[in-house]
Amino acid sequence: MEVYLDNASTTQVSKEVFEAMKPYLVSEFGNPSSLHNKGIRIRKVINSSRKQIAQLLNCDDKEIYFTSCGTESTNWALKGLAFANKTKGEIITTKIEHHATLHTVQFLEELGFTVHYLDVDKQGFINLDQLRLLINDNTLVVSIILANNEIGTIQNVKEISKICESSSTYLHLDAVQAITHIPINIKELNVDLISISGHKFHAPKGIGLLYIKKGTHIANLIHGGQQENNLRSGTENVPYIVGITKALSIGINKYKEYKDRLNKYAQYFIDKLKENNIDFILNGPQISDNRLPGNLNISFKDLDGSDITFYLNKARIMVSTGSACDSTSIEPSHVLKAINIPNDYINASIRFSIGEYTTFEELEYSINSLINILNDLS
Ligand SMILES: Cc1ncc(COP(=O)(O)O)c(C=O)c1O
Repeated sequence: MEVYLDNASTTQVSKEVFEAMKPYLVSEFGNPSSLHNKGIRIRKVINSSRKQIAQLLNCDDKEIYFTSCGTESTNWALKGLAFANKTKGEIITTKIEHHATLHTVQFLEELGFTVHYLDVDKQGFINLDQLRLLINDNTLVVSIILANNEIGTIQNVKEISKICESSSTYLHLDAVQAITHIPINIKELNVDLISISGHKFHAPKGIGLLYIKKGTHIANLIHGGQQENNLRSGTENVPYIVGITKALSIGINKYKEYKDRLNKYAQYFIDKLKENNIDFILNGPQISDNRLPGNLNISFKDLDGSDITFYLNKARIMVSTGSACDSTSIEPSHVLKAINIPNDYINASIRFSIGEYTTFEELEYSINSLINILNDLS
């Protein structure tokens, strides 16, 4: 049996998504900027995809922009705001962002912006009082990871958005892990920009979205043709636009069943570890609506994470240590450091991310194998 428990890194393209995309790879291949019938037909497909996405997320279709991935969306959001709003010089983000955000704000720091990094508590929730203290008339944007990719913490966006509104600061959310895994109603959230990536919810890699609220002053990241309302150039990736639309529609409609099942699986996993007297810490919040469904980030006492992943991989169970980008590094990730895991646990922190296609049989096999490995290593 081969078990894929790394769904936070990426997911497989679903059959429905693949089937929906197929015609646009082969027969309906026209360029949407062409003025002949093949082009006009494809232009209509993009327009209707954008409308469908806007309906699913509760926003206007003119506020949805197609990009190549979550990293591009976040780069565009932050650099685009920085380049278009030269009168403000401060950015607030958190210590537990994905590198897409951290490396972008570091680049902006080199250009002269002052960046503040909010602390988080032991479960990864940001310090709202610190945000209230730091935010001021010179703050251009607050950029927050809605659901953390390593430890699954879901932030309280309503409170964050109230704080941003009071000082007319833009609010950008990295919702790459959150989308389809928690409900997102843009009008209710009251945010200005949202980054989304298709490959986290069964669309292919290479397609993302950026929501940009009407009235936002933002500069282009990619210059060229007039695509995406003159703001994001490049011939549109129509098959993938169709794919992300289909995946979003399926994901949002399945949310409740998905969440309940994955939370049950995650709780079962934890209970089994307890029953077997394994010494561990669940990093991030307890399994609840405050934690990404299916995310289990667990630290084991006095062990080495690379030993555990080696034996798990030998048993054909695929997991990751830290975030995917950190999986070759022995250094504990910046997220695990920020939540202050005790030293005797930090070297063996493993992320098991259960997904929509994980079966109970696979889960049972994984837990039993893990317990045997831990007993052998102790
Ligand atoms: C929270 C978060 N933000 C951004 C990204 C980057 O997305 P992409 O892989 O589409 O560039 C990831 C990917 O792991 C992520 O988990």
